[in-house]
Amino acid sequence: MRIKTVQKPDLSVDIGRLKLKNPVMVASGTFGYGREFEDFMALNRLGAVIPKGISLNPMPGNPPPRIFETNGGMINSIGLQNPGLRVFIKEKLPYLKELKTDLIINFFGNTQKEYVRLAGALDGVAGISALEMNVSCPNVKCGGIVFGSDPRMTCRLVSAVRKSTGLPLIVKLSPNVTDITATARGAEDGGADAVSLVNTFRAMAINIYSRKPELGNVIGGLSGPAIKPIAVRMVWEVYRAIKIPVIGIGGIMNGEDAIEFILAGASAVQIGTANLINPGAALEVAEGIKKYLLQAKVNRIRDLIGGFEI
Ligand code: FUM
Repeated sequence: MRIKTVQKPDLSVDIGRLKLKNPVMVASGTFGYGREFEDFMALNRLGAVIPKGISLNPMPGNPPPRIFETNGGMINSIGLQNPGLRVFIKEKLPYLKELKTDLIINFFGNTQKEYVRLAGALDGVAGISALEMNVSCPNVKCGGIVFGSDPRMTCRLVSAVRKSTGLPLIVKLSPNVTDITATARGAEDGGADAVSLVNTFRAMAINIYSRKPELGNVIGGLSGPAIKPIAVRMVWEVYRAIKIPVIGIGGIMNGEDAIEFILAGASAVQIGTANLINPGAALEVAEGIKKYLLQAKVNRIRDLIGGFEI
């Protein structure tokens, strides 16, 4: 009997109402505003681009140093630096919306009112495919993680934002909680279309010679391969706890890493720290996924989602 070989596997995935040409996105905060990477890759081949998160007003970020490299990862304490909504729309969006890939806007606020205003303002803007709500930044005192640490607050915030936008809404979750399935359920109950996880783990490093912190903000968020096994576990737990799609994030460096997240239940993945090591990493991940599907003789990536067997 002849085995039918798959020539061109179908990499398309659905994140609720959002249809992506492939499951590989670039994570917010690791890819600038897209243009910075145009010399390194064909941006249109990405599943989606997620630029640095935006707030209503400009934010200067935290004092330097803001990045510290560790074994198997890095700690960042950027502090959500961004030019604010008005400058983003005027100076960054025109380039981004011409790309032939989906554009997901990551946003956050200091208060519920700010989240709602921002989501409402982005709702009518042409060229945006979906929103990603950051309720998980470990590097700012108010807003963000405050909402993402309590499932009831997450639910209330998501439900308020839900009413202000018709765009698909993804909620980016923090791993710095006792039970991430509870906040995932809060996001689902609030009306999220999908959740993305995980953001970074609160972490710090000390310079033993100066006896001072390595980061200006003392504490930052750990990302990179060091966190991957914990992220895979969290994706698997959340996948089993909710019905909406899960987007996996956490130390993905290649196609095999991405497949691991997809088998654990992720419908798509975001590439973060790898972009800072190898600016072409995200497309290499997409190629690696394709190669795996060809070798495994699987026609469609969606058939692998949650395919983990115990
Ligand atoms: O500090 C930062 O800008 C990082 C943001 C985040 O991890 O959400």
